[in-house]
Amino acid sequence: MASDMERETDYLVIGSGIAGLYFALEAASHGRVTIVTKKRPFDSNTAWAQGGIAAVLGDDDSLQDHVNDTLRVGEGLCKRKIVEGVVEEGPAHVRKLAQLGVDFARNEDGNFDLGREGGHNKRRVAHYQDATGYAISQALLAAVAKHPNITLLDHHIAVDLLSMAKYGGEEACFGAYVLDREQGSIVAIVARATILASGGAGKVYIYTSNPDVATGDGMAMAYRIGAQVSNMEFVQFHPTVLYHPHAKSFLISETLRGEGGKLRLADGSEFMDDYHPLSSLGPRDVVARAIDNELKRSGADSVFLDMTHLDADFVRNRFPTIAERCKTLGIDIAVDPIPVVPAAHYQCGGVVCDANGQSTVKNLFAIGETSSTGLHGACRLASNSLLEGVVFGARAAEAVRHTELIRPSRVAPWRSGNATDSNDAIVVALNWEEVRRFMWSYVGIVRSDKRLERALRRIKLLRQEISEYYWDFKINSDIIELRNLALVAHLIIDSARRRKESRGLHYTLDYLEKDPAQARDTVLHQSSGPPA
Ligand code: SIN
Repeated sequence: MASDMERETDYLVIGSGIAGLYFALEAASHGRVTIVTKKRPFDSNTAWAQGGIAAVLGDDDSLQDHVNDTLRVGEGLCKRKIVEGVVEEGPAHVRKLAQLGVDFARNEDGNFDLGREGGHNKRRVAHYQDATGYAISQALLAAVAKHPNITLLDHHIAVDLLSMAKYGGEEACFGAYVLDREQGSIVAIVARATILASGGAGKVYIYTSNPDVATGDGMAMAYRIGAQVSNMEFVQFHPTVLYHPHAKSFLISETLRGEGGKLRLADGSEFMDDYHPLSSLGPRDVVARAIDNELKRSGADSVFLDMTHLDADFVRNRFPTIAERCKTLGIDIAVDPIPVVPAAHYQCGGVVCDANGQSTVKNLFAIGETSSTGLHGACRLASNSLLEGVVFGARAAEAVRHTELIRPSRVAPWRSGNATDSNDAIVVALNWEEVRRFMWSYVGIVRSDKRLERALRRIKLLRQEISEYYWDFKINSDIIELRNLALVAHLIIDSARRRKESRGLHYTLDYLEKDPAQARDTVLHQSSGPPA
């Protein structure tokens, strides 16, 4: 399909989670913002976030404590300066979210009622019940809808970034080709700055806590345009996702363990004391691996998260969303232990960015889960991700003020050449399923050289097939997502193969120890990584 459609804006934001929306609200004071989001505006990882947003808001807490917890969990790969900055700026942004209408839980004195999660030594998670992300999404979307300088285009999916290098110019980004999913047309949206805020890539794995939109689009597009990505091997598996044949992607928040929930085996025995001094509230990588180990050892389908020793009214009132969802499946969380398994949850790596979200390609920014800023290191501290979204959303909004539009005189319209309509949707579905299954088996919680080799062979073959399919048929959102997902899978496999040690979320049977000589980022670029 050829289209001569072109639009211009100051700032093009790809994604409508916390980072993109917060950026938009901040940047709209000095420019026109266009947000594109591929499904409905609230289809994002943010809206599914249950636990909350970590920040130093309690009297017994300190910035240094939060910094220390983040650095400890990050296992030597966090950038100290970034951690200190984010922790310091965090509390003001949480208060701003409250001003924007997020109804954070308060105690009798009117102060934030703070939850606790794994790896935190203090209570510091501001929350709205067990649906914090949804409350934040609602408040930000309402503010965005009222803002005269912000246009939100839903059901629009970015296909690829616009690159000046393709026009013989410098390596700079000037917007994106965007598919209007309802009309089937492709428009070039030209912008002074392009902000990737499209979240993570949980859908690379067959079991995930993420919504369907998490297909790594921002990371894949950035890599294709020549940006660096780093630390893609550090995929965080959440220890507790509901195990039930009819429950798709339903998280059982870590805050349940923060309020005293205990992990148990089917016979009722507690097992986490054998793995970590913080027991059920240990860091996520440790807890997820412990559960994986217990499941492999016993052959059981799940372990159990037990809240039954706690006050039943407290449990149901503190976690109404989880209680309601479990009830529909016949589980009363105050009475029945909840069957849980680990699942892919968060990508700690992503597009390499500086302290303002600027990527290694001019005028291209990345914020939130799409980015790799140095906050999370080799393992993310729970609830630091919503925090990163607001801090970097605000910082990037300030940084883009100084961007200048670099664009060709005429943008080539999108061309599909001789592409025809595909009547073979099953091929896309099968490829998608295959990637996600072998990523789970070979590049999951426990890895080995042999498993990674197997995954590499398979992803190369699949990417070749996907590429043929991509260019032979008219594109649609399924093909766009599959192409991105497969590239991100390849980046994860490649990064994992380069790390010959176990550190944080990367655990391999062939190198069980941490190696101080490998306390560095794994950086991939088209010239040194897999084909784009
Ligand atoms: C949770 O509620 O357990 C998720 C929080 C997070 O991933 O930061």
